[in-house]
Formats: sequence, structure tokens, C-alpha cells
Amino acid sequence: MSDWTKSDWRAKPRVQMPDYTDAAALNAVEAQLSKYPPLVFAGEARRLKQHLADAGRGNAFLLQGGDCAEAFDQFSADSIRDTFKVMLQMAMVLTYGAKVPVIKLGRMAGQFAKPRSAPTETINGLELPSYRGDIINDLAFTPESRIPAPEKMLQAYTQAAATLNLLRAFSTGGFADMHRVHSWTLGFADGNGAEKYREIAERIQDTIDFMAAAGIDADTTHEFSTVEFYTSHESLLLEYEEALTRLDSTSGKWLAGSGHMIWIGDRTRQPDGAHVEYARGVQNPIGLKCGPTMTSEDLKLLMAKLNPENEAGRLTLIARFGAGSVGEHLPRLINTVREEGAEVVWVCDAMHGNTIKSSSGYKTRPFESVLREVREFFGVHQSEGTVPAGVHFEMTGQDVTECTGGVRAVSDEDLSDRYHTACDPRLNASQSLELAFLVAEELSSLRTARAKARAAS
Ligand code: PEP
Ligand code: CO
Repeated sequence: MSDWTKSDWRAKPRVQMPDYTDAAALNAVEAQLSKYPPLVFAGEARRLKQHLADAGRGNAFLLQGGDCAEAFDQFSADSIRDTFKVMLQMAMVLTYGAKVPVIKLGRMAGQFAKPRSAPTETINGLELPSYRGDIINDLAFTPESRIPAPEKMLQAYTQAAATLNLLRAFSTGGFADMHRVHSWTLGFADGNGAEKYREIAERIQDTIDFMAAAGIDADTTHEFSTVEFYTSHESLLLEYEEALTRLDSTSGKWLAGSGHMIWIGDRTRQPDGAHVEYARGVQNPIGLKCGPTMTSEDLKLLMAKLNPENEAGRLTLIARFGAGSVGEHLPRLINTVREEGAEVVWVCDAMHGNTIKSSSGYKTRPFESVLREVREFFGVHQSEGTVPAGVHFEMTGQDVTECTGGVRAVSDEDLSDRYHTACDPRLNASQSLELAFLVAEELSSLRTARAKARAAS
């Protein structure tokens, strides 16, 4: 893009970004980061874009998931491994339902900066600036902790690099163990609908056994022993993003070197704002959150700015309306996309429209609402004849109690047991897998309905 530079966003109105008070310290950090290697390679971002283009046509399905906010004090090999593992398990279940490849995209290795609903927070009469993620300030409720500190960008970079390094090692090291399908469902209590998971798990196991008998060995076959895993995060802290922006010599285009996909949040998607200005100039696949306040006019402007050449796979629209509201908003936006003849990839974020305060005072999300939003999303696409191309979840491989419900029911009272998120409540490993089975059912009934419609026509 010849009319674009990586600093142009600085001249645009910005929201949700910190006001750094020490300009010299900020400049020093930016100068240092801009000398560091990018975390991803442009060819990888282009490959992900191709996969997303497939998803938009119904020939692949996107699973995007991970923490709401990665945190410095929760950084460990175990937590990376556990989230990676649950995503692989979910992906296998989804592959079974969709019968197409599942694209695995972590909210990982860069998901540090958070937009907030209020600029300040008051506890017991003390008002302090809100916590904005570990890349910006500290969660601790003291005046010093809440001051934005530019050096935190360097720590975030280091954590992102180490996370990505481990993810790459797991991805090519044969970590995806197809033989352990049965054990995935052990955590589900008997009764309570666990049978249907067991049934799908048994069918997957059957397929693996059949392949083994036919001489296709899951340990040595490339497709089973390596996996492509991509990273994504909200492109919120533009000083960090700019410092990691690189010119790709192969294509002559700019690349956000901070992750494979970046997305624009529901609070920072002003068509003339800084965040859209930055994202429009990089070649990565771009996500755009679409909440209930997204108007058709804005969506038109945004599609024109973010994907002027109407490239397939470039723009993923991440719908996050909340259970009960999908029918009100998704059809009108699908219609806008149709009118514009735009290439988009529709994905359902079933988390951000479903956050409530529990009776015990914790921010939570009822599993039922998450599931209901997914079902509504599929239902609308089925009646519109459009493609539900993926799902987006806040989840962790850890056994936390942050969202209520699920087969191993977490109650309002249980929330205090293991509530560890630095920001929004995440699905735990068991809830994530349960959801994957339910999405697989949706995908498989969609396939059946389409096949019937084809046969009848
Ligand atoms: C998020 O994905 O963590 C987030 C803040 O989402 P949204 O912009 O959709 O509210
Ligand atoms: Co969140």
C-alpha cells in the first residue's frame, strides 16, 4: 500500500490507549523493539489468509481461542501446553463434525492489551486508572501499579517469543496424539448428556483404528504428527504494533510482525480512527469485531478500508452480539455484506456479548448463553444460505471456575474456587471440549440439511 506508513495512525483519533507520561522511556522502548526480530514470517500470514479464504467458502472451519488476556504471572510451559492440547482436541472433534480441515488459531503469544468499559475503577472510595493488560500496567490496585510503563512492552515481547517458540515445538514435535481420544471424555460425569460425546469419540477412535489397520500410521504420517498452529491478538497497543511492523521483501508489503492475525476490537473500530488506520496497511489477515452497535454504514466503510481489493481471507468478521440478539443483528450485517459483494469470513465470538455479574459478585458467562449464541449464529447462516466459518472462544486448558454451567456444572458459589483470569471469564478445559462436541453437532446437521437441499433441487 503506497499511501500508507506504519506511523500514520498517530495523526488519527485514538481511543483505549494509555497516555505514557515518560516520553523518553517510551521512545527508547520503541527504538529497541523495532530492532528485534519479528515473531512471525510473512509467508505464514499469507498461508493463514489462504486457509481463512477456504473457511469463508465452507471448505475449512476456524477455531480461534485462548486467554482473554495473557498475564506475566501466569506464564508457564504447562499453561501453554494445556491450552494448546485442548485446542487440538476441540479441533479434532470439530473436524469430525465439519468434515473439513480446522484452522487452529490461538489468542496467544501477544494477547496482552485490553480495552476497558471505563477509564477508571473505584474500590472503597479510591478511584484509580483501570487495568489495561500486563503490556500496559499492573492489575494490583495501587496508584503506582496503574501507571502505564513502556518497559512492559519488552517483557510482553519476550513472553510472546517464548510462547510462540514452545507452540512451534509442540506443533512439529508430534504432540497431537490421536490415540487418546477416549480419555478426553473421562472428565464428563455419567448421565447429564455425556453419552453423546462418548459416541462421537468412539466414532473418531473407530476411524483411527481403521486407518491403522489399513496401514496409515498416525505416529509417522505427517498430517497426524505435525499441526499448523497460528497466533492472533487484538491490535490495541499501536506503539507495540508499529515497532514490530516490517517490510516483507518477498511481496514488498508491510507485515504486522507481532502475530499471524491481528484483530480490531469492538471499541476501537471507528472507521477514521487510529486502529483501523494501522490495520489497513499491513498484509496480515485482519479480524473485525462486530457488536450490536455496528451499523451497516460503518461496516461498508470498514470493509472498503480494510479490504479494498476484496481479497478472500483478508477480513474476518467476528460477530459478538450476545445470546438472544444474534437474530436482530446478524441478518442485517449479512445483508450489507451481500449488497457490497464483499468477501468475508463469518466467525462467532460467543463470549463477549454474554458477560454478566454473578450473584456471588464475579464476572461470569453462563455456558448455556455461550452455547445458545453459537446455535443462533448457525441458525441465521442456515436461513440466509451463508457460511458459518468459525468460532472464537475465551478458554484455557486449566481447570478454572470462571464460567458457570457445563456438564461438570460450575455454580455461582463455585466461581471463587479457581477464578484466575486477568480479565474476562474463560471456559475451562471440560467446558471447551463440551462446546466443541456441540458445535460439531451443529456442523454435522448443517451438512445434512445442505445435502438434503441439494438432493431435492
Ligand atoms: C476481547 O476479545 O477480549 C474483547 C475485548 O472483545 P470485544 O472487542 O469484542 O469486546
Ligand atoms: Co475478553
